[in-house]
Amino acid sequence: MLKMKKIGLILIALLLIVLSACGTSDTGSSGNGDGEKKKTIVMGTSADYPPFESVDTANGNKIIGFDIDIANYIADQLGYKLEIKNQDFNGLIAALNAKQIDFVMAGMVDTPDRRKQVDFSKSYYQDYQVVLTKEKNIKRVEDLKGKKVGVQLGTTQERLANELNKTIPMDIQKWDKLNEMAEAMRAGRLDAILTVGSVAYGYTNKDKSLKQFNVKLNGKDQFEAISVAFPKDSELKDEFGKVLKKMEENGKKDELVKKWIENQ
Ligand code: ARG
Repeated sequence: MLKMKKIGLILIALLLIVLSACGTSDTGSSGNGDGEKKKTIVMGTSADYPPFESVDTANGNKIIGFDIDIANYIADQLGYKLEIKNQDFNGLIAALNAKQIDFVMAGMVDTPDRRKQVDFSKSYYQDYQVVLTKEKNIKRVEDLKGKKVGVQLGTTQERLANELNKTIPMDIQKWDKLNEMAEAMRAGRLDAILTVGSVAYGYTNKDKSLKQFNVKLNGKDQFEAISVAFPKDSELKDEFGKVLKKMEENGKKDELVKKWIENQ
């Protein structure tokens, strides 16, 4: 009988030790529980570029788009609070290097030139260069000769225009904001603009007086590897990379491509 009591006491003691150990590990954990304050990461973007990012004027000027949904998903998965800073595209890389923002998602293309200043994630969307116009007689790049062609400042389209200009002299007009430039083209103040296929599609799909065609150089389409940019050696690059990979595997990215790009 005495023996049984002893065993009972030992068991109770063991149970208490186990319980208190659990208690300790609970209070000591530093997860992203509700009461916990999440770390904020700041995304820089240029919300003039639907369907990647634009200002939803019908809904309290909220910034919406493909990039915003991807960024929100990533921040959520990593336990960060996301803050979005809207500015002109041309200043985004400088803002990254000045540590005013933690990363850029702005339909930005990974280029060797930019790589000298920033790091890029693996590309999350492949696009290509196009001409967007309402002029019936502009059907291929050669027809841009002598025409007023709009490009957004600091973009790969500005670089492409300078390249084309060597053999097809044109009147290159530089704009800060893509959406304002597209409106100017619609109003007849520009003959054509250079942009990417999925941005042009948002316009041509709604306005049948507009058309788009691919820019071909030496017979080849000009691809644009859209990627997330980070300051050099940022730890966020690997963290984001893991979630981007997951989004490819679990169908989340396809869902967002359908929602924003294919169904615009
Ligand atoms: N794809 C071009 C580039 O990387 C233009 C991106 C413009 N983005 C924007 N949000 N306005 O240069």
